[in-house]
Formats: sequence, structure tokens, C-alpha cells
Amino acid sequence: MKNVYITTAIPYVNGVPHIGHALDYCLADACARYHRLIGDNVRFQAGTDEHGGKIYQKAQELGIPVQEYVDNNAKKFQDFIHELGVEYTDYIRTTDQKHEKLCQEIWRRLKDHIYLNKYDGWYCTGCERFVTEKEYTDNHGICPDHQKPYEKLSEENYYLRISDFKKQIREAIDSNEMMILPEFRKKEIIRLLDKSPDVSISRPRTQLTWGVPVPDDDSQVMYVWIDALANYITLLGFPDEDISEWWPAAAQFVGKDILRFHAIIWPAMLLGLGLPVPSTLVSHGMVLADGQKMSKSIGNVVDPMDVIAKHGLDAFRYFFLRHIDTFADSDFTWEKFEDAYNNELANDLGNLVQRLATLAKKNKIKMDECQVELPKEYRTLMDNFEFSKAFDYVWERIQGINKRIDDEKPWTLAKNGETDKLNSCMRSLIHEILIVSKMLTPFIPNTAGKVEAIFTNPIEPPLEPLFPKDR
Ligand code: MSP
Repeated sequence: MKNVYITTAIPYVNGVPHIGHALDYCLADACARYHRLIGDNVRFQAGTDEHGGKIYQKAQELGIPVQEYVDNNAKKFQDFIHELGVEYTDYIRTTDQKHEKLCQEIWRRLKDHIYLNKYDGWYCTGCERFVTEKEYTDNHGICPDHQKPYEKLSEENYYLRISDFKKQIREAIDSNEMMILPEFRKKEIIRLLDKSPDVSISRPRTQLTWGVPVPDDDSQVMYVWIDALANYITLLGFPDEDISEWWPAAAQFVGKDILRFHAIIWPAMLLGLGLPVPSTLVSHGMVLADGQKMSKSIGNVVDPMDVIAKHGLDAFRYFFLRHIDTFADSDFTWEKFEDAYNNELANDLGNLVQRLATLAKKNKIKMDECQVELPKEYRTLMDNFEFSKAFDYVWERIQGINKRIDDEKPWTLAKNGETDKLNSCMRSLIHEILIVSKMLTPFIPNTAGKVEAIFTNPIEPPLEPLFPKDR
């Protein structure tokens, strides 16, 4: 049994949750549940990122006091995480007083690597990111993700000397002390790291008030990413408490768009604090709608609650963990979702459970105590964070059971009075479905629990199909 700390990116609260936000949570939750299943102690962080210019501007536009605005939206994200069935253990808001105080302490401890300098360049408030002159030119002065012109900044900022840590970060990446998944993203990060300048880590208070004050300098507030990244360790109590029981994190889940912050600035901060780098950064792809980035202006944003309302939470988790590839960009379309629901959940799994339990009841099959072990292939995939592939593997086993029933025809054995053969065939099939239900636990826990209960003596077919088709 080991201690495993799992983290998710904390979303900005300048809007409401959309299906893209669900991916961090679904992946991290599957990972956490898997570790619990194999007997590890899990600590699982979730939270909200509540500072920065983007949030401040939005509250101003709406004419709402900014604290009230973030309180309202943070609540929506919390509700959303609950709706997704995410079993986090700790929740952090970056406007928590404790977090702010610990952040300031962290800044003090990084002092040797921080210097004041003039920044003359470009910024995108949508990304909350400073952009290089080259990016500015390449993108013709407009942020491709937000379709807004970059802002010209000319101000005094504090800088974090990334150059102090480049060599160590590179070594940690090369040696897999900090594993970056998938492999092709790791290569991108190595290229970025090589040319990464020192990073600006504060903004003048005259430009931005909504942030954690820089300690011992009232004129500056922390750049939102410094405050946000620190959440992963302030939640554990750093620097007031010894966090070595939980840190380094076993897995930090982030979208590919924010990997650069986690793979460069974050390890630099950690190394400056004398802490180890995270063991694994898992960077997932983007959820697209009909092949396009979801955006309010295109009008293709999908509300996760609509998807859950349609076929229930497990159908949602099923789609997001199996058909949204863990690492590549993938499309959500209602058509694909409906197909997966009807053909896979309702037919492959739902019908199988009904059919097998009915056969077992009819033939009065009783199960002996049996060991339900997780197959090695599945464990390897889960250990390597290949969640969609692990889910595919489970589905192959489900299809395998369906095929075995067709091939072995238990009803014929019953008809011919071959009782011993019937019992052993049925027990072996039920054993197999119990293995499947165990493997499903991290992904679709409610369904997994139901399947297990159905095939526990006395075996009772469900009164209603697990995945009804007539909704
Ligand atoms: N606040 C920062 C994260 C700070 S972590 C210390 C942020 N917030 S965000 O709201 O923009 O994004 C939160 C997470 O949602 C990120 O991992 C991001 O990649 C993910 N997604 C947002 N839209 C997404 C999709 N359309 N698809 C998949 N994930 C996406 O970045």
C-alpha cells in the first residue's frame, strides 16, 4: 500500500463549466479509483482558480463585486464536480486566506531566484499568458485561441529566473523523474524549455488588483499562474507542514494547452523550494465539438448537464473515458454519443448482464467463493495512464463473454441435462463478468456496483435494463 497524490487543473471561474472541463476530472477520478481498488491510499485535489485579470474584467463587465462573482461561479464548479461523481478528498479555492498566506511564504522562499525588471511585450488576458515577440508576429498580433488582439504591456515586474533550473528540469525530464505523457508532448516541452526565457511572475497593482499581494512590495500582485500552481502544495499545508508523505504527486492531470506552465514554471518553483518535481504530468487532448474548438461565439458549446440528463452519469463517464482518447483531441457529437450508448452500453453490456443473470436464475446457478483479480494487461495500461486503451481492453472482454455464450450455448446444456458442464460453463462466465465489473469500477462505478450485486448469490436479473433504450 502506498500514498498516492492525484491532482487536477483548477479551472478559472470566469464562466460556467463545459464538457471540456470534465476531462481532467474524469481522468483523475478514474486514476484515483483505480489506486483505491488496488489498495493505495489516495489523496485527490480539486479546486478553482479565482484570481487574475480575466476574472476581474468579467466581474466588472457584469457590475458584480468580484468576490461575489467568484463565490457564485466556484459553487457552479463544485456542483459540477459532484455531478460527475468525482470522489476528491480535498478542495481548494485560490481565494482561501490560508492559500494566500502560504503563497506569500512560498514567494519569500523563492526570493533568491526572483529579480525585478522591466517588461516590454505582449500579453493575452484570455490565456493569462505573456507572449514572445515571435508568437506576436506569427499570430499577426491576435491570439488564435481567443480571437482578441494581444495587449501591449510596458511595466515593472518580478521575474523568476528559469535559467537557474533549466539543467535540472531537463535532467528530470530525460531521466523520467518527471514523466511527461504522452511522449510527443514531452518532445515539445524539451524544445520550449531550451528557449524559455525567465518568466514574469507579477503585475503592478495599478494594472491588476485581483491577485495575491507580493510580500514586502505593496505595488505588485502575483501573476495568476504562480498563485494557481502553488495550490497543489498549499493544499497539503506547504510550507508550514512537512508534505513528504504526499509529495511528489503521483499524477497531475492537465490539458495540453497548459502543459507548458506545469512542465517549466512549476518544476522551477518546486526546485527553488527544495521540493521534488511531480512524478508524472499527464497531458490530455482537447474535446472538440464536430471537429471544432468549442466556443461561445461559434455556438457549439455542449452543456455537460444535458449529456448527463439524457442517459445518466455512467453513460457520460463511459463516453469521456473510452471514446475521448486520453491523449489525442477527440470529438464529441450527439450522434457518436447515442451510438455508443445504444450499441455498446445498452447492447454489449446491458443485454449481456440481463441475459447471463436470467440464465443463472433459471438454472439455479450458485457461485462459490472466487478470486476476482485484475488482469495484468489491464493493470499495465492503467499504470501507464492509458485509460481509453484500458477501457477498450475491458470492452474486448465483454464482447468475449457475449461470444462465449453464443458458442457454448448454456441453454442447450440445460436442455440436454448436462448439469456439471452447465454449472462449470455458467460459473466461468459469471467469474468473467465479475472480473469485468471490477475493471469497470474506476470508469463507471455505479454500473460496476450494480453488476457485482446482480451476480452475488442469489443471482437476480435486474428488474429494469441497466441502460434502457427508450429514453
Ligand atoms: N486556471 C488554469 C489552470 C490552472 S492549474 C494550476 C486553466 N483553467 S481553464 O479553465 O482554462 O482550464 C481548466 C482545465 O480544463 C485545463 O486542464 C484545460 O486544458 C481543460 N480544458 C478546457 N477546455 C477544454 C476542452 N475543450 N477540452 C479538454 N480540456 C479542456 O487553464
